[in-house]
Amino acid sequence: MAATADEFHEIEKDLASLARLAAGDAHEDVRLLLARFVRKYRQKRPDLAAQLDQALKSSQTRGAGGALRRADSPSAPAFSPPPVDSDSRLALIREFDDRRGLEPPLLSASVHRQIESIVLERLESDRLAAKGITPTRSAILVGPPGVGKTLSARWIAARLRKPLWVLDLTAVMSSLLGKTGNNLRAALDHAKANSAVLLLDEIDAIAKRRSDESDIGELKRLVTVILQEVDQWPATGLLLAATNHPELVDPALWRRFEAVVQFGKSEPAAVSAAVRRFLGEDLATFEPWVDALSSTLADASLSDVQRSITALRRRHALNEADAQLLVGQLLGDGMASLSKAQRLALAIDLAKSGQHTHQDVSKLTGVARDTIRRHAGPSPRRGRGLK
Ligand SMILES: Nc1ncnc2c1ncn2[C@@H]1O[C@H](COP(=O)(O)OP(=O)(O)OP(=O)(O)O)[C@@H](O)[C@H]1O
Ligand SMILES: [Mg+2]
Repeated sequence: MAATADEFHEIEKDLASLARLAAGDAHEDVRLLLARFVRKYRQKRPDLAAQLDQALKSSQTRGAGGALRRADSPSAPAFSPPPVDSDSRLALIREFDDRRGLEPPLLSASVHRQIESIVLERLESDRLAAKGITPTRSAILVGPPGVGKTLSARWIAARLRKPLWVLDLTAVMSSLLGKTGNNLRAALDHAKANSAVLLLDEIDAIAKRRSDESDIGELKRLVTVILQEVDQWPATGLLLAATNHPELVDPALWRRFEAVVQFGKSEPAAVSAAVRRFLGEDLATFEPWVDALSSTLADASLSDVQRSITALRRRHALNEADAQLLVGQLLGDGMASLSKAQRLALAIDLAKSGQHTHQDVSKLTGVARDTIRRHAGPSPRRGRGLK
């Protein structure tokens, strides 16, 4: 079927949007856009829609590998199979099964307390019931990227000896116009029937797309369904949501969550614990550098801390250079983002550890040797050499 000039122009525009998102590496946004195109072109360009659908499905299969597992572990109780979108066959619910063990997330005292309360209320729901009180049925986890919101949801589920089900909002929205509400209801009903811990991850994805006029009716329906569900969620299950764009979440939806857990930037103690945890078996090798690494990564999210430390371990495992040189490079890379005061604090720490000469510390941090001596006393006779 030949395209009219208007259609051609439309396709050009869509291609450009897709390219922009793909170039930005925003994998989830690319999937959302693809899902929208599948719906948009299904009527007029079925072949194109089928190809896009195929690409979307294969991207989901890939995403479902790795950390995500299906409910096939022997210890899993017999949950009925999760629903799929009848049209695209995308699974509407994905699963994290951490019942065999998960290291607890590293959290500030106040976030830890709130997460623990949610768990304890569940574990001791009988005592609450005796007084006619129900445990918290719904909670929204808010905070910047990479601080452990999704991980905390997994932790809550694991503590309750349940898998975490994550509603794939992309799959829900990828179906034919008008069916989205039904799909969402099917998925939510399924979660309720199984008393599941259900996470609506990145719930702002729905709100964000409200700016897209062509979808507004459908998205309103979607938000309405979720509003009703949050209100009526049974105390046997637990409904969680997460977002790093609270300003995009519909205020009416926001209000309905019984608990709001506010995650902040990670505290220094958490960064240092994370550095130790992510060093794993290499901790002994890198022990003298833990404090320096922690100060350099002080402003990074724990997910970025994990990435940096894992990259360091890879390079060390492949014998690219000795541990000290690799750490020196990592510190050097991070130095640019540190303020003068942070650099000075790091220089003093390194100097006081007595393991590095002032010359090495100065080379690395850019802080003058005189200044270092003033704060940390004389240089040790022989440093371990940062190079
Ligand atoms: N508080 C934490 N404790 C331990 N590890 C963490 C923590 N935060 C992040 N990580 C590490 O980073 C990874 C990604 O974190 P997670 O997916 O929970 O972040 P998020 O807050 O959900 O981010 P986003 O808003 O981008 O979805 C985790 O799997 C974990 O390895
Ligand atoms: Mg997350």
